[in-house]
Amino acid sequence: MADCPQMPLLPTTSQATLRGCASLSVNSKNVFICSYPKSGTTWMQNIVYTLATNGRELDHISKYAPFFESDRSWSHTDDGSEIAEIHRICHREIGWRIFNTHLYWTMMPRNGDARYIYVVRNGKDVCNSYYHHFTHMTIEDGGTDLSFDDYFQEWIKGNLTYGKWTDHLKSWMEAFDDPRVLVVSYESLKSDLRSALLAINAHCNFGLSEADIDILIPRFSFKYMKENVHKFNPIFFKWVDKGDGFEFVRKGVVGDHRTIFTEEHSKLFDEMVKESFPHGIPNALSTYPYLFN
Ligand code: A3P
Repeated sequence: MADCPQMPLLPTTSQATLRGCASLSVNSKNVFICSYPKSGTTWMQNIVYTLATNGRELDHISKYAPFFESDRSWSHTDDGSEIAEIHRICHREIGWRIFNTHLYWTMMPRNGDARYIYVVRNGKDVCNSYYHHFTHMTIEDGGTDLSFDDYFQEWIKGNLTYGKWTDHLKSWMEAFDDPRVLVVSYESLKSDLRSALLAINAHCNFGLSEADIDILIPRFSFKYMKENVHKFNPIFFKWVDKGDGFEFVRKGVVGDHRTIFTEEHSKLFDEMVKESFPHGIPNALSTYPYLFN
């Protein structure tokens, strides 16, 4: 793994798992949902699972689209590493291997014709959503009880799990021209879900008709996912009930950072973006100016 950039990872990601991830043998029936945390990963997991199976019922998303770099998703023995049996069974059932991951492009298996969907979201909304997530997770699972101000200082420096938001973008930007990679923004899912679904269906060769897709659309609404949060809630983290009504499928809006960001936070965010991209927003990202607003 010498060529992998440094990235702070969860305690449940071992070197053996990272080696397994990088060397997994992949093919065109494999779909990786890739993102910086809080960009809409679970929404995309639900979309990919539901399109891949043409609306098959779901008990829990993590069985069919497991967290790629979690030790729990793997079985490591002296003979080598393989995907944990439960997920192999589930993947066989549906005929597709689906994973979600927050790894860099350089840490991914790239030895075959797999499909990668990179989900991006406005950085300030990501930061805000991340804060709500981590302040409702137990400390031993990697949660925090920092104030927003203190958390923000750590996030902006890239000290938190999965590192700096712009480093993630930089890593995946290198792959934007790769035909196996489709970039989908959270904001485009919000503004024109149907077009995004058609693009995902075509990219992954799921073979659904437009009429099939239209029937499935209600399964992707915020309301549906909130009402069925037990199908989407990460199962291996323990949550802290602060009596404030927090749920993993939380608010689902664009621009919610305005409820917590001060002008000073926005200024520091802008400086971080400038420092990360001293020559301006790179061409690959210029299609998504709203990521930096
Ligand atoms: P908020 O915290 O801003 O509400 P991830 O899955 O990468 O952790 O992303 C979580 C974010 O996606 C949360 O954002 C969550 O509410 C939002 N989300 C989940 N399902 C959604 C849906 N169907 N529509 C819109 N947003 C959704």
